Amino acid sequence: MSNPNDRHMNRLATSPTRPSLAPPRAIETLPIPAEAASDTAVPRLPTTVVSSWKGGVWKTCISASIAERLAFAGLDVLYLVTDDQLDARRRLGISESDPDVARVQRGAGSITVVGLAGAHAVDVLYRSGPGRFGKFDAIIVDTPPVKKGGCLPGVLLIAPTDGDDASANLIRMLRATPANTDVVLVRIDAVPKKEWERDATTIHDASNHAGGSYLPGPLPRTDEVREALNRGQSVWTLPRRGPTREFIQGVESLAGAAWARVRPDTTLPLLAASAASAVHIRGWDGDA
Ligand SMILES: Nc1ncnc2c1ncn2[C@@H]1O[C@H](COP(=O)(O)OP(=O)(O)OP(=O)(O)O)[C@@H](O)[C@H]1O
Ligand SMILES: [Mg+2]
Repeated sequence: MSNPNDRHMNRLATSPTRPSLAPPRAIETLPIPAEAASDTAVPRLPTTVVSSWKGGVWKTCISASIAERLAFAGLDVLYLVTDDQLDARRRLGISESDPDVARVQRGAGSITVVGLAGAHAVDVLYRSGPGRFGKFDAIIVDTPPVKKGGCLPGVLLIAPTDGDDASANLIRMLRATPANTDVVLVRIDAVPKKEWERDATTIHDASNHAGGSYLPGPLPRTDEVREALNRGQSVWTLPRRGPTREFIQGVESLAGAAWARVRPDTTLPLLAASAASAVHIRGWDGDA
């Protein structure tokens, strides 16, 4: 069945004429947690993981924004933070004095932020489920760098990269990615689309992962987004203009892919005007 949310994503076809690559050098076998070693395991709830081996490639920004977008669309989201960084909480307006398990309302839905690592996170994802934290429709996982988010089977893996080093690390991560995980490659920061298309294909082919797609436009760097994030303001409230609009549209497509795991037969509902505090005026706000 074709997925209505797929239209924003470019599929990476595994070309039958793809030259056979030299077998991967035996330099690295990533330690996959025993619990998640099965290539066929699936999480108890539809799960989206944002992961990369490189730090500072907007993982928290992307994952928190997707969680908010799904909540605005009416879902109750468990936002699993697998590092000890508090920036994810801060970005969602949760203060240090709030409880360890904190819930925020976004439109008709909610985001419950829980910090869990290693086997505890695997337990919530694959074994006992998140029941003890509440009732949820979807799980979004924010990983710190080098946390092997790519090893998780049966998830939607959003993998941002921002350059050569990051690409090399990404390839290592994707090589350890189970076949039943869907990968979406995201390039952050502006590069020409053609160049990104070529990079995405190269990264994907070198990773030996069978399936995958990439966000066609790189997510652009904008002062407006950076400043909003640094003061804990949601990107969904920003005026849609220039590169900020492109950034928001890119994250909207990623949220669409996450939504498709939860409600495969429908497209992500439009963001209600009341959810976006900034009004976008077509033809005026930078959409030439
Ligand atoms: N579109 C953007 N334009 C400009 N700056 C951005 C943008 N998105 C994120 N940033 C900035 O980049 C920095 C890193 O973002 P973020 O914390 O989301 O990355 P991360 O990958 O989660 O980092 P870490 O590896 O530390 O977990 C932040 O200071 C954020 O404000
Ligand atoms: Mg982070």
